Amino acid sequence: MGLMNYNIAIIYTSVTGNTKDLAEHLCSCFEENGQFPILYDISKFPFSEIERFHVVIIATYTWGNGDIPASMQPLYDAFEQQNTKSIITGVAGTGDSFYPSFCGAVDAFRDMLYVKSTLAATLKIELAPQESDIPRCRLFAKSILKRLEKELFQKQLES
Ligand SMILES: Cc1cc2nc3c(=O)[nH]c(=O)nc-3n(C[C@H](O)[C@H](O)[C@H](O)COP(=O)(O)O)c2cc1C
Repeated sequence: MGLMNYNIAIIYTSVTGNTKDLAEHLCSCFEENGQFPILYDISKFPFSEIERFHVVIIATYTWGNGDIPASMQPLYDAFEQQNTKSIITGVAGTGDSFYPSFCGAVDAFRDMLYVKSTLAATLKIELAPQESDIPRCRLFAKSILKRLEKELFQKQLES
């Protein structure tokens, strides 16, 4: 039995294109598994509807000194303030290992999502995703979908 179609959002922010590239790669990896996420630039995401998504994937670059970009702060706040514990989440980022806090925004989201959502996977990519990163992107998508199946099975047992 395959998975049904679930509401999956991939939300990204990107200045020079690396993270947009990553978000698109991740989208393809879900499609390989028969799922069709909606890709949102953060400026277009409907925050008030966050609870209707089964899965939310966050794709972010890192700014300043390991910081979350300002454009991503409303999403961080939405998870902190809304009823999101049952949403399966994943956080992926691009960064530059030249900086002391490589992909620090991924770590910051991870720590919050671990508490406020059902965090299933994280991924850090050096600058633009390369051919050699594709297996890691695939594994990321598979981990998310496995966790989704597990949570749904658990819910069935409880009902
Ligand atoms: C001012 C500035 C600060 C940055 N700080 C960090 C950082 O602390 N850690 C990190 O891993 N990358 C850092 N980066 C690198 C970016 O996160 C990286 O280039 C990223 O891939 C850009 O994503 P984008 O192409 O989607 O805009 C910084 C870049 C700039 C320009």
